[in-house]
Amino acid sequence: MKIGSLCLKHITVLAPLAGITNLPFRRMVKEAGCGLVCSEMISANALSYGSKKTINMMQTHAAERPVSIQIFGADPDLMAHAADMAQAAGADIIDINFGCSVKKILKSGAGAALMKDAEKSRRILSAVRNRISIPLTVKIRSGWDPSGKDALLISQIARDCGVDAVTVHPRTATQGFSGKADWALIRQVKDTISLPVIGNGDIAVPEDARDMLAQTGCDAVMVGRAAMGNPWIFSQIHDLLATGRYEEVTMEERFCFMKKYAAASVEYIDEIHACRMMRSRLTWFVKGLPGSRRFRESITRIRSLDEAWGLIDDYAAFVKNDE
Ligand SMILES: Cc1cc2nc3c(=O)[nH]c(=O)nc-3n(C[C@H](O)[C@H](O)[C@H](O)COP(=O)(O)O)c2cc1C
Repeated sequence: MKIGSLCLKHITVLAPLAGITNLPFRRMVKEAGCGLVCSEMISANALSYGSKKTINMMQTHAAERPVSIQIFGADPDLMAHAADMAQAAGADIIDINFGCSVKKILKSGAGAALMKDAEKSRRILSAVRNRISIPLTVKIRSGWDPSGKDALLISQIARDCGVDAVTVHPRTATQGFSGKADWALIRQVKDTISLPVIGNGDIAVPEDARDMLAQTGCDAVMVGRAAMGNPWIFSQIHDLLATGRYEEVTMEERFCFMKKYAAASVEYIDEIHACRMMRSRLTWFVKGLPGSRRFRESITRIRSLDEAWGLIDDYAAFVKNDE
């Protein structure tokens, strides 16, 4: 699949997930086989104030490429400036958030609020397009009307402004994450707008990705929540599409991933903050495994990487004995 000048080796995309798709997680997901990783949403306003924390969120690494950096905001000049900074930080793609439906973001006129402001959307997309030389994508929802007419209009505007691909998460802004994603709208956008379309929403297992591709004709699939406990879903999707089957990840691979993820987080943040973060993150990977409750309880107290690794090793030995 091509997004502008960028050729993707695999048609899988890690969704932007605020608070989750930071550099260490993206690197790990890339290593697990994902085609394109995406940063969490980054505030154009905060970048304009020079927020160190926000600037740090734009850090990229050669090992994760190609990487997309997602920005959000409502001011065309600030968005163009943010896109410029993201390009300088090593992004291969700039993605613009048209989907966030968190109240604070909507109030500021950003995220899904843009889906009911065609004129402002056009100004933002043109300003960003004119500022950067790398591919530009937008991530939209159905909009405010279940018919999906906002999605069609914004996709049309995006195409006219020189956007290279559109990601469709077919839930309305008021829906949040409730109900089911309406994949028929992905098909509608694909059939109506001559742009590559990335389909998103409710891919829980590799078979869902196969079905979404077949039902919607989308060019690539984006996975969010399912990747949080199963980062191997991307290579499983590739295997399923290529051979009709895929392997479950082994326990060894699972525990090795957990240890490397914890180590990468400590390297990127610092031990105290990374351990705080790992207390919840490491539990994602053991859901449904025997005796996971005890592991989950013990991991909530970790203060160092050594301690985390020790608990993972102990739990791995317990699971092995249980097999
Ligand atoms: C914890 C969380 C954080 C999210 N953060 C973002 C974000 O920063 N930018 C964005 O465009 N979408 C964000 N989303 C939406 C996801 O990218 C995706 O569209 C949604 O989860 C549907 O895909 P899924 O069913 O594969 O999870 C977030 C979703 C979740 C659950």
